[in-house]
Amino acid sequence: MLVNSLCVENVRCIKKANIFLGEGVNLFLGVNGSGKSSLLESVHILATGKSFRTSKIDGVKNFDSDNFTICSTIKRNGFEKVVGYRNEKSNVDIRIDAVNVNKLSDLVLNFSLITFHSKSIFIIEGEPQYRRRYIDWWLFHSNSQFYPEWLRYQKLLKQRNAALRQNDNFLHVWDEALAESGEIINLLRKSALQILMEEVVSIIKDNYSTQLSAFSWQYNSGWPKDETLLSALKRNQQRDILYGFTSVGVHRGDLRFTFNGKDAKETLSRGQQKTLSLIMFISLGSIHKKLLNETPIFMIDDLASELDDEYRYSLLEQLIDFGGQILLTAIDKKDLRFPMSTPVNSFMLQKGEVHVL
Ligand SMILES: Nc1ncnc2c1ncn2[C@@H]1O[C@H](COP(=O)(O)OP(=O)(O)O)[C@@H](O)[C@H]1O
Ligand SMILES: [Mg+2]
Repeated sequence: MLVNSLCVENVRCIKKANIFLGEGVNLFLGVNGSGKSSLLESVHILATGKSFRTSKIDGVKNFDSDNFTICSTIKRNGFEKVVGYRNEKSNVDIRIDAVNVNKLSDLVLNFSLITFHSKSIFIIEGEPQYRRRYIDWWLFHSNSQFYPEWLRYQKLLKQRNAALRQNDNFLHVWDEALAESGEIINLLRKSALQILMEEVVSIIKDNYSTQLSAFSWQYNSGWPKDETLLSALKRNQQRDILYGFTSVGVHRGDLRFTFNGKDAKETLSRGQQKTLSLIMFISLGSIHKKLLNETPIFMIDDLASELDDEYRYSLLEQLIDFGGQILLTAIDKKDLRFPMSTPVNSFMLQKGEVHVL
């Protein structure tokens, strides 16, 4: 999949930019505050409807404007599409080939984009939701059963929580429905993880055996291993009534990474945590390519920071090996060493203006 052209208007410090991207590596250079992250943020918004920097999309708008627009020509499976995203006075208008898109999930399904930004390292050190999002991203793109089931689970969870607060006589009905949906999601997550983590282990073994060996992972479904979800829901019913929310289920699922039995977030250096998180995102791309026969676009904001030259080079080599489109940012060209003969399309950002180099 490719983003061929990109136009951005009034996204943070970028007042207006129109660029054509290359099929391989696209490198955005510039000093701090020149707009590099804002440019990647624009592509991310176009592909997901969400910013990776703020939960309030209105904050993305340039301070002097009441609207922002991002549009692009994308190419997927040989077909070109024009995608547009406009936010005007907080009203959002998304179009694909001039047809309105009402659900963000319909937008997301048109893209296969893997973004690595400053918060992506939270997959190691952050709350469980970051790890669940990682697994669920893959399931969303690879298994059509997943998203409707996930929506059903969220709805049932809300209904059960409401029933808990009212101490409803029909609580057992929600228990049964939630347990059934949760068991399906759990099975999907477990089999997806098996594939993804095998890839992580094999990338570590082939490229980082000295630094990151002894890696292992454990998945926690969100309730005790030796119990069904239904039994765990029933066993916790009184406590759940007391607190007014459901304490067990796939919404409490988590993934734990250990090195020699010790938690990754406590044992690994920051640079190693960043490397491991990048490996996890590269694994997503690798599995995507192998199983769905398509190379996703990779966007990495500030790859160089916190990594030594050897790690940076290894990660870049793997990314470039995929043969897909890559969007990278760096302060200086010298920060990244590319494998010999890699064509690089470079752009320079200055105070929100993008210049082709
Ligand atoms: N809503 C906004 N309107 C205008 N400028 C903004 C807005 N939000 C952030 N900025 C400014 O945009 C600049 C570019 O930020 P950023 O894209 O993060 O730069 P870089 O990644 O190149 O360091 C920053 O100086 C920031 O203060
Ligand atoms: Mg930045």
